[in-house]
Amino acid sequence: MMSTAAKTLRHLVSMSDLTREHIEEILHRAESLSSQPTLEGKQIALLFYENSTRTYSSFRTAIHRLGGLTCGFAGTAGTSVLKGESLHDTIKMFEEYADAIVLRHPRDGASRWAADVSSVPVINAGDGQNQHPTQTLLDLLAIKRTQGRLTGLKVAMVGDLKYGRTVRSLSQALSLFEDNELFLVSPPSLRLPLDQVERLQERGTRLQHCQRLEDVLSEVDICYMTRIQQERMEDPDEYERVRGFYRLRAKDLVDVKDNLKILHPLPRVDEIAHDVDRTPYAHYFEQAKGGVEARCAVLDLLIGGPL
Ligand code: CP
Repeated sequence: MMSTAAKTLRHLVSMSDLTREHIEEILHRAESLSSQPTLEGKQIALLFYENSTRTYSSFRTAIHRLGGLTCGFAGTAGTSVLKGESLHDTIKMFEEYADAIVLRHPRDGASRWAADVSSVPVINAGDGQNQHPTQTLLDLLAIKRTQGRLTGLKVAMVGDLKYGRTVRSLSQALSLFEDNELFLVSPPSLRLPLDQVERLQERGTRLQHCQRLEDVLSEVDICYMTRIQQERMEDPDEYERVRGFYRLRAKDLVDVKDNLKILHPLPRVDEIAHDVDRTPYAHYFEQAKGGVEARCAVLDLLIGGPL
């Protein structure tokens, strides 16, 4: 029998596309899917207009694990994008070659726009500073696995909350689960945009804004570190004013909860010192490993065929 989520979901562009029920079903699938060939005979286009290590490779791994094939590009070098081909025309070409499109693009809203013109499902692999829904699903998988629940958690989100798409998507998702409290830790110039704050408040999520990570570190269950998104800042001085603002070191982790886990969507720059990797709190590499399972679940849900 087809699941509720499968019946209602055609594209995955934003966390706004997902209900709590969808999320729970995807996480359940991620935990229970083995290497079933549900994408056998299916071709998935990976269209990555922006750099990526994890998202590109884990989508590719997930597709191959489910028996599917890939086409597309990782970076626009060597493609006709550099001759001026539009996103519209590229999508119209790849819908002829593929059963679904996974799109990473530097422009906010590019995936929604692509979904509107595409005849095949579109999965957002990150659009500008807007959304990164499959990252959020793997983040939630890591939180659930390490904390045993997605409710009643204290979560610090640290760093670039203005330009970081992973924070937008994850805060939205956590606001669907009751009794979570978010500590928004950033320099004043990189605070979470007001429309995002208001959306979380409308859902009744408790929020605290602060600048100093040390003021909240002992209270939280999850510390979600992020890098400063230098590439999204038009003014180089904006980056210079905030570079190195946060640098979490092993010696900072003395008076913390036993269950604390430090997450990071990666790549890191200098916001987590390497000596943290050897502490029991570091969980960012295991978190990234869950990317294959989370993406298998999304692909299976949107385009997987019956076995
Ligand atoms: N977390 C993440 O999106 O990493 P990549 O940019 O390497 O894909």
